[in-house]
Parts: sequence; C-alpha cells; structure tokens
Amino acid sequence: MDKIIIAGGRRLAGQVRVSGSKNAALPILFSALLADGVNRYDNVPNLRDIDSTLLLLARLGARVESGGPSVRIDASGLNCHEAPYDLVRKMRASVLVLGPLVARLKRARVSLPGGCAIGARPINLHLKGLASLGAEITLEHGYVTASAERLKGAEIYFDIVTVTGTENLMMAAVLAEGTTMLRNAAREPEVVALADVLNRMGADIAGAGTPEITIRGVRALKPVTATIIPDRIETGTFMVAAALTGGHVTITDCEPGHVGATIDKLRQAGAEVVVSGSTITVTGRDKITSVDIKTQPYPGFPTDMQAQFMVLMSVADGLSVISETIFENRFIHVSELRRMGADIQVAGNIATIKGMPRLSGAPVMATDLRASACLVLAGLVADNTTVVQRVYHLDRGYEDLEKKFAALGAAIKRVK
Ligand code: EPZ
Repeated sequence: MDKIIIAGGRRLAGQVRVSGSKNAALPILFSALLADGVNRYDNVPNLRDIDSTLLLLARLGARVESGGPSVRIDASGLNCHEAPYDLVRKMRASVLVLGPLVARLKRARVSLPGGCAIGARPINLHLKGLASLGAEITLEHGYVTASAERLKGAEIYFDIVTVTGTENLMMAAVLAEGTTMLRNAAREPEVVALADVLNRMGADIAGAGTPEITIRGVRALKPVTATIIPDRIETGTFMVAAALTGGHVTITDCEPGHVGATIDKLRQAGAEVVVSGSTITVTGRDKITSVDIKTQPYPGFPTDMQAQFMVLMSVADGLSVISETIFENRFIHVSELRRMGADIQVAGNIATIKGMPRLSGAPVMATDLRASACLVLAGLVADNTTVVQRVYHLDRGYEDLEKKFAALGAAIKRVK
C-alpha cells in the first residue's frame, strides 16, 4: 500500500489547475446507460472511483474507451441489469445505475451498498422514489431488485436532501410516462451538471439547482458530448492549503460560483481571497482567526470540506465549533489529528477545536476520502515529518494530489 511522506513547514506558492469533478462525473457517466450510441465526455478526472464506474458500465454491456481525460461510452449493447457486490462495495455511488437501468431495461438488480466509514448511508429514499414511479422493489440476499414495465411520472418528496437520491430519480424519470416532480431536491452543482447533460440528450428537465425539479418524460434520449465541471471540493482543499501554510496560491480552471461558502469562511478566518473569472487566488496570513462552521446541503458549507477546515481551525487563534449535520460519523479524522497535537473535543455531531500554535508530524492512517486529504493538509503545516498511510482512500477522489502540492513547493512524496 502506498504512503505519502510530508516534511511540514513550507509555504505553498504558485498555480494549480483543478481536475474535473468526481461527483459530477459519476452520475454523468452512468447517464450514458439511458441512450443508444457513443457519448463522449471530456475533463474526466483520473480517479479510482472513475475506474470502478467504467468497469461496472462495461460489466453491464456498454462499450467503454478511456484515454486520458476523455472517455467514450456506448450503451447500445446493454445486456446485463445487475451491479454485483464486488463492485458496489468498492464504490457506493454504483447505486446510480438503478434509475437508468429501470428506465432503459425495465429492471435492475443492485447489491445494497452497505455503510461506510462516515455513516450508515441508507438508500431508502432512492427506493421510495422508484416505488412512487411504479417500480416493484424487492430486497433479498443483500440485493435490491427494481422492475417496471414503464415508469410513470409522480410527485416525490425527499424527507432528507439527498444528492445521489435526486440524481437517481432524475435519471429514472426522464423516460417515464408523464411528469415527475422532485420536491426538497438537492441543489448541488453536480445535480445541475447532470440535468444539463440529460437535457442535451433530449430530456425535458426544469428547476435543477432549486428544491423543485420538474421532469417531463420523453420517449428516447440521444448520445451527447459533454465536459465535466471543475471539482469544487478539490478547489476548496487547495484554498484551505494556501490559508493553512500562509502561502499564495492561484487555482485555475475552477468555478468560484460553486465554492461561495468556503470563500466566505476563509475570509472570516483572515485569508485574502481574490476571484477573477475562473481563477481564485488565496493568500494566507500568519494569524488564522477561529470561525465556527455548520455543514449544510448546498449552497451551505459542504460536509466534504469539514475535515479540511478542521485542520485550519486546529492552528487558529482561539476556539471554534464545527457542527456536522449531514453524516452521523464524520469525525473519524479527529483521533488522528489529536495524535498530531490538535486539541479537539467531540460531543455527538459537535466538535470544539482549541487552536494550537502548531501541529507535530506523526505516522497517521487515512480512513475515508476527505479525512485522508485533511491528514495531508495537517502534514503540510506540522513540524517535522508526517507519514499518511492507506492513501488508496485519497486516490478515490483526488488526481495526483501529492504532485500538485509538490508543484506548489510542498516537501511531499509518495512511496510504494
Ligand atoms: C453525495 O453522497 C456525495 N457523493 C458525497 O461525497 C457527499 O458527502 C454527499 O453527497 C453530501 O453532500 C457523490 O455525489 C458520489 P446524500 P450521497 O444522499 O448522495 C441520508 C465524497 O467525499 N440519506 O446526499 O450518498 C444520508 O445517510 C462523498 O466525495 C438517507 O437517509 O449523500 C446522509 O445522512 C462522500 N437515505 C444524508 O442523507 C437515502 O436514501 C445526505 O446523504 C439517502 C441519503
């Protein structure tokens, strides 16, 4: 297993280009299942989760070609409706095949994803929505089976805002008979990006980005050429890294409009943030001000930025309170940060951080994707050396992260 070794204390400086968004690419690649013909996607990030997605699409009978950041998918030869356990357990977002497969092949059999480090992450709202559209749902032997002769439009209310739930049902509804209303829908940019691609394939979706999405069913979709939007969480991760190290970093080819909450909190913490077109320049200050954050669905502060921000607060000048309202167990990184000298108390979904003058390097273990990014950030600013193990978590969602940090002047390397 690879590990990443970091000698802390360097100020980051220079330019970095963020990759395409993992969480936009995943549903968009699965949407290829909805049409016959060759779809072409550009700016697809080179990540383990993308590899898993392409493997699953091929297993379902799609023809997949990937070369660098462009991927071509042709689902004309779709001949399987089952997403097996060995693939779904590696990537829970595989549940996103449910909607497209029921819409296209009238049935789907998907292994239940099970929980993960950050929470139980049930898919009950995905299934409730599919049932509302007329699908017959059965759960047995760890698999969910959904089938319907033809889905019929319905009004679906989400008890909880769910990103992939919204995406799954949007994809199920585009070929349904009649109109579907998604209420209390997720407003994430990745939902909007998927709706844009589906509309370019011939779907009729209105309201993406608002809590009310209307989908008028059509008879068929056609293939598309699309470019994946920039990754807003990778963007936020580099912004925090610049503030954390007192550096001066310009992030290019990003979408500042997608990181408003992170910009706001970094400015409150004393960093200078300048937005210009598709670039953001962050200049850190030696003094970091403690600020409180509460994770919320978009456009609130993203849960996927919570661990990274906690590192910044660990070396801020006072007390800060972080409330994690989306997942029930997303403070796993706290114990590793404590080993690096952070002073963090956790009570339920509230973490109280008392800023310390510095962190000290240590051997630490990554547990999930964003926690592993936070440990790399902590290593950048800690005294002496930090060794982050199990970096395969990192490779699921960040493309060449250590190379990008090294190009910004960090003393960081990956060892096999
Ligand atoms: C998406 O996960 C993202 N993944 C996550 O990013 C992100 O943290 C999350 O949205 C929240 O923004 C992808 O887009 C592939 P949810 P998702 O359904 O859709 C509960 C990363 O690091 N819920 O919005 O699985 C759920 O348990 C990953 O890139 C139900 O109870 O998250 C959670 O508490 C991590 N029943 C809350 O809703 C359901 O049927 C929000 O989950 C569905 C969700």
